[in-house]
Amino acid sequence: MTQPTPTKSHVVLAYSGGLDTSVAIPWIAEKHDAAVTALTVDVGQQGELTGALDRARENGARDARLIDAKSTFVEEYCFPALQANALYEGIYPLSTALARPLIAKTLAETAMALGADAVAHGCTGKGNDQVRFDVAVHTLAPELRVIAPVREWNMNREDEIAYAHAHHLKIRVTPESPYSVDENLWGRSIEGGRLEDANVAAPEVVFDWTGHPESWPAEPETLVVTFERGIPVAVDGVRLDPVELVRTMNRRAGQHGVGRIDHVEDRVVGIKSRETYECPGAVALVTAHQALEALVLPRDLLQFKSSVDRRFSDLVYEGLWFSPLREALTAFVRSTQEVVTGDVTLRLHKGSCRAVARRSEYSLLSHELATYGTGSRFPQELAVGFIHLYGLPNQLAHARVAAARAAHAAAASSTDAPRPVLRTA
Ligand code: ARG
Repeated sequence: MTQPTPTKSHVVLAYSGGLDTSVAIPWIAEKHDAAVTALTVDVGQQGELTGALDRARENGARDARLIDAKSTFVEEYCFPALQANALYEGIYPLSTALARPLIAKTLAETAMALGADAVAHGCTGKGNDQVRFDVAVHTLAPELRVIAPVREWNMNREDEIAYAHAHHLKIRVTPESPYSVDENLWGRSIEGGRLEDANVAAPEVVFDWTGHPESWPAEPETLVVTFERGIPVAVDGVRLDPVELVRTMNRRAGQHGVGRIDHVEDRVVGIKSRETYECPGAVALVTAHQALEALVLPRDLLQFKSSVDRRFSDLVYEGLWFSPLREALTAFVRSTQEVVTGDVTLRLHKGSCRAVARRSEYSLLSHELATYGTGSRFPQELAVGFIHLYGLPNQLAHARVAAARAAHAAAASSTDAPRPVLRTA
């Protein structure tokens, strides 16, 4: 009887079509003696994805696949984040961070379906994305090995190009850009090159979705976003499916330069880095959502929710999307959204986006209570008694502290109190 030949390893690679993941195909095949399936997950990045698949096959991939995950991305990742007003460090809408777990999940599911034994990604060893990919795969499919060629090989850009030529790879010869860009429907991230100097203003060439400042309209524009239970469903009264709605917001807000973010960010691996983003749709939607919540949620819930929102944002950033805590926080957030229904008017102008009007059938604004005009039903005469009781504990505490300070001062100046020893000479 002949011995069965050991089955070759099969690796599913998260493939973007760029230089790193193109070089990764023959590199994995060689170093890991593996067949490589290239997988591109469409989360709304621009560029010619099907052409990239052909190149993957020509560069030695056994198979190349494209999975459209745009709706899932918006409905199951971006919108729950919007309901949590998710902004890492109060400023970054987490566009890259939200897409990574979905790409990792799709990668793991594809590997399992194909009977592959490993997955691979093109992340470096210095960023957050390796953490997000690895943790997600280890969580969802612990039996899969994770290969990260860029983390393992010691090649710079020139070495990679030389490797590509030596292996007769078809790579798209793009004019050399010093910037690393990551893009999806929730935003665009640009890092590297001159941006690494936090004291240098981002050059205009790094921006793509927000036009040149000279193209920003001189006149402000208003736009109405309609929400149902914390989910945006229409723009200016026109109902749109989730992907179209996000695209529309990116376009409308981007035209006015809204959503440029320049941030010194704290990475999971412990380093600070200067990051630049364009997230026009996400910034405008979070602004609108927060304005509507302020109208319909009571003060204590708003305050408590903001701490949940913050924790949620940190978890997403830190690669813990697939965690019991993130799921529990999402459930809490969702439970607050039943009344987050209504319209918010945004004013877009030269890079700024402000909520200027809002209405909801669940508004907690009561004209009868708040008005200074006629018809007020607020019982002002009760205010005196309320204020008296409200201020009573503070009045008492203040008196006690004053008495204690007086006693300490008297003790310090009395003769039998220990005196500080003064050194002479
Ligand atoms: N710093 C951002 C994050 O951790 C973006 C990282 C990816 N960006 C890139 N240009 N490759 O979410």
